[in-house]
Amino acid sequence: MAHATILLTVFGALFLCVTSVPFKKQRDVDIYSFHINSTVTSRYAINVITSRVANRLNESKVVHFEVKIPKNAFISKFKMMIEGKTYDGIVKQKEEAEQQYSQAVSRGESAGIVSSVGRTLEEFKTSVTVAAFSKVTFELTYEELLKRRLGKYELRIHAQPMQPVADFKIDVYINEQPDISFLEVKGNFKTQELSSAVTSTLADSTKEAWVNFYPTREQQTQCCGENGLNGDLLIEYDVKRSEQKGELQALNGYFVHYFAPTDTQQIPKNVVFLIDRSGSMRGTKIHQTRMAMLKILQDLSEDDYFGLSTFDSSVHDWKPELLQATKKNLQEAKAFVNTMVARGGTNINQALQNGVEMITSHPRQGSASILILLTDGDPTSGETNTMKIRSNAKEAIGGKFPLYCLGFGFDVNFDFLKEMALENDGVARRIYEDSDADLQLQGFYEEVATPLLTDVQLNYIGAANLTQTTFKQFYNGSEIVVAGQITDNNLETLQTEVIAISKDTNVTYQDSVSIKDVIDVLPQHENFIQRLWAYLTVKQLLEKEMTLKGDEKEAAKKNALDLSLKYEFVTPLTSMVVTKPQEEEIHVAHKPKEGEKQKIQRISAKITDLGARSGYQKINNRLQGSKVEGRSISLSGSADSHSFVSHGIHNLFAMAPVEAPNRFGVEYFLTERLRIPSQPHRPKNVPITPHPGHQTRFLISAQPKAICYDVPTGHYKLRLLLDSSSNFSMNAELSGNGFQLIAIHYKTAKLLTSTNESVYSDEKLNMKLVWGQSGHNSIELDSMSIFLRDKVLDITMGSVRVVLLLHKKGNEVFLWPSVRQLPKDANTQGILGKTDLQYTELPDSKVKIMDQEVLAQLTSAIDYRLPAAPSVQCWLVPFQSALQGELSDFTISQL
Ligand SMILES: *[C@@H]1O[C@H](CO)[C@@H](O)[C@H](O)[C@H]1NC(C)=O
Ligand SMILES: *[C@@H]1O[C@H](CO)[C@@H](O)[C@H](O)[C@H]1NC(C)=O
Ligand SMILES: *[C@@H]1O[C@H](CO)[C@@H](O)[C@H](O)[C@H]1NC(C)=O
Ligand SMILES: *[C@@H]1O[C@H](CO)[C@@H](O)[C@H](O)[C@H]1NC(C)=O
Ligand SMILES: *[C@@H]1O[C@H](CO)[C@@H](O)[C@H](O)[C@H]1NC(C)=O
Ligand SMILES: *[C@@H]1O[C@H](CO)[C@@H](O)[C@H](O)[C@H]1NC(C)=O
Ligand SMILES: *[C@@H]1O[C@H](CO)[C@@H](O)[C@H](O)[C@H]1NC(C)=O
Repeated sequence: MAHATILLTVFGALFLCVTSVPFKKQRDVDIYSFHINSTVTSRYAINVITSRVANRLNESKVVHFEVKIPKNAFISKFKMMIEGKTYDGIVKQKEEAEQQYSQAVSRGESAGIVSSVGRTLEEFKTSVTVAAFSKVTFELTYEELLKRRLGKYELRIHAQPMQPVADFKIDVYINEQPDISFLEVKGNFKTQELSSAVTSTLADSTKEAWVNFYPTREQQTQCCGENGLNGDLLIEYDVKRSEQKGELQALNGYFVHYFAPTDTQQIPKNVVFLIDRSGSMRGTKIHQTRMAMLKILQDLSEDDYFGLSTFDSSVHDWKPELLQATKKNLQEAKAFVNTMVARGGTNINQALQNGVEMITSHPRQGSASILILLTDGDPTSGETNTMKIRSNAKEAIGGKFPLYCLGFGFDVNFDFLKEMALENDGVARRIYEDSDADLQLQGFYEEVATPLLTDVQLNYIGAANLTQTTFKQFYNGSEIVVAGQITDNNLETLQTEVIAISKDTNVTYQDSVSIKDVIDVLPQHENFIQRLWAYLTVKQLLEKEMTLKGDEKEAAKKNALDLSLKYEFVTPLTSMVVTKPQEEEIHVAHKPKEGEKQKIQRISAKITDLGARSGYQKINNRLQGSKVEGRSISLSGSADSHSFVSHGIHNLFAMAPVEAPNRFGVEYFLTERLRIPSQPHRPKNVPITPHPGHQTRFLISAQPKAICYDVPTGHYKLRLLLDSSSNFSMNAELSGNGFQLIAIHYKTAKLLTSTNESVYSDEKLNMKLVWGQSGHNSIELDSMSIFLRDKVLDITMGSVRVVLLLHKKGNEVFLWPSVRQLPKDANTQGILGKTDLQYTELPDSKVKIMDQEVLAQLTSAIDYRLPAAPSVQCWLVPFQSALQGELSDFTISQL
């Protein structure tokens, strides 16, 4: 190890003896760890971003933390840990925070800012001065209720750490009661070379799913250069809806009701499009609008009626009345759209009055009416007073149908459009001036294209403080969510009733849920329904506030503020104040308004030199009086043995002892989108494999289902992975359910891991990491890093990243390896070395692997590559078929 750098990140006792090792040239301010942990419980996502940064200089330095979160989310926690102290962000009323902030600014002492806005994301920025050779940990938590749009929920995780990070990972865990119907991972991390670093697993029960993204530092550099990753991981999924009455859950005095029936027929619609063709629409905008309208017209159903008006200073109807969407009529309408040219002013008032008139003069039984306004500017012609236009629109519509307002670009008075839409049971949406504007328009139309119910009223007995319970229309692909407080302490079951009008009939759905039922959620999420309720209530109060006046407005605002403060949400009414170690320095985070131009106020932060201290000196001080075992370093801490922490699955391989094959599940991978068969095919009369207790089951990830095979349980040594090109090998001793000893060799280094500890050694160094330590313990050297977190040892050696998990089953404690990353084009051997297993399913419970047909049994295996060890579905085949070799080809005599 000619040029090795030793970096010890230790929380807990440290004993070491290191001969002087020259430092490798590295970043002065280094983000050595960047984690994003997302947990979704019944659509409610709680996300934690943790960034750990070291100042490796002999002087203090300003360290920045900048992350992006979805606009729809509320930040709920922020903390900085520095020099053993924690600094928590405090949520305050916006005005109060502002005062504090401007005081600090007027003293010229500190910097404000902390938020800006993009199309789907908001930015959170802060910075802190870190002393020489010191570290800081930033931790930001944000929460979001995932909204169902066009038949799916979308969890977007943005990561841009600004440099390649040795310990980078994104862990997502989704827990849904009604079963996940599909799971798909997208986003631009997929298109880069990194796609193999993304894995997803769905449990046999299909109620739980994991998505993990573990690129190595080398891969981050290879794909994205010195600035590291910059992009999104996009997870889309939906749940099964076998119950038409919806999904009702109660927990700790709160309930949530998800309602999205699928058994109703589409209601024919009367839709009127009001399209702004004022001068400002000229050019690309009008062209994109034309493209979108042509597509939208194409998608109308034959039993829909439609109207089309363009407006500038005056209104030009295609036809004065609604017409049926027949082929002929559509043809004519398209010709009209094609001749649309932009000129003149913007008479929104007249356009709206005209549109309402068109709809109301053609009443039709069993239909749903929709008015859609598209504009790119302020009203400039006719009635220009927005208050007047709003009241005119409200009076004309009279609550009979919804009005949707689409604001094209940033020259629109979006507040006005939003207020007007909200007053009329609709929503406003901004259409961004971009090459995909036509797709945005079509996307919006698709959301409202299929009305399934109108006048939906949801009732709950024994509950109060309900979120919105009446909805003008319910569209296919969306979902109604109602949450509330259970007020009756004696209530045993909560009862719901939904009344709505479907195509030709009135429909009623009833449901009840036992309040005493326990839902299986993580302890950290035991109040998730309460938080979900607060989140939804605040969102709705903020919208309501826009349309109210006087005392009612103030009351709604106060209510929203109180809840934001209580639940520590950063909303438009609150701000988060972060007081930094350098006493007077504060940062304030505001939630930006939709479309608000980025306001950046920056005053360079005061750099307080806390005095340079040598890192070596620090270590040496700790060494005084400590136990020194020859040339070894041991990191010890309290060992605890509860459940496991990290997640893991490579798209290759795993092993698992035999489990009773009575549950179903499918594994999902990156590019494929699969629907889970509602009745999984289960072969009958297949010969059962030998006695379950005496086999260890191995799992190979493959499509469409995983492949698994058994090996006899016993004490012998196996070659797990050999990559000769990078001099990496991993061997292990099998025993019982898993492994007792795993040895990793990399160049001249060796890492020997038992169920007690891990010992690292090379020519110069000898270190020990003990399982079960809390906090963040690591060894970082030149091209390798080892991180230990509780029951997970995360090892990167060059381009290979493996994770060793410590599992406990009954009284048995064993190790489990999971390969997370292999070099591209690696020619690897060993039982974990098979990178790509292709097979085809054949009838009669057979599969074809490498041109060989074999009998297979549809069964399940425990996937120990994930800390949660879920049961997953797999095709059980003979060892020889799965690995194209005999067991003896993989056994070795020495670790
Ligand atoms: C910091 O290190 C540089 C050389 O690396 C040295 O010139 C400088 O004097 C040091 N500063 C302090 C405050 O020790
Ligand atoms: C609703 O959408 C789903 C697919 O997203 C489709 O299968 C179903 O037929 C639609 N229902 C109606 C009534 O159009
Ligand atoms: C509704 O919420 C408010 C404020 O959170 C609370 O004061 C009130 O007691 C709640 N009402 C009921 C009926 O629980
Ligand atoms: C549906 O209920 C409303 C009142 O709730 C009633 O006026 C209407 O006639 C009913 N429609 C049908 C089709 O039963
Ligand atoms: C992620 O968060 C969940 C819930 O807060 C927690 O149980 C889990 O341990 C975290 N996972 C990691 C890898 O930090
Ligand atoms: C692997 O090891 C062999 C012999 O120990 C050595 O000659 C070779 O250079 C090494 N390769 C790499 C990539 O380190
Ligand atoms: C682990 O520790 C236990 C008790 O401390 C000891 O009996 C056992 O031999 C150790 N195992 C290994 C592999 O070192």
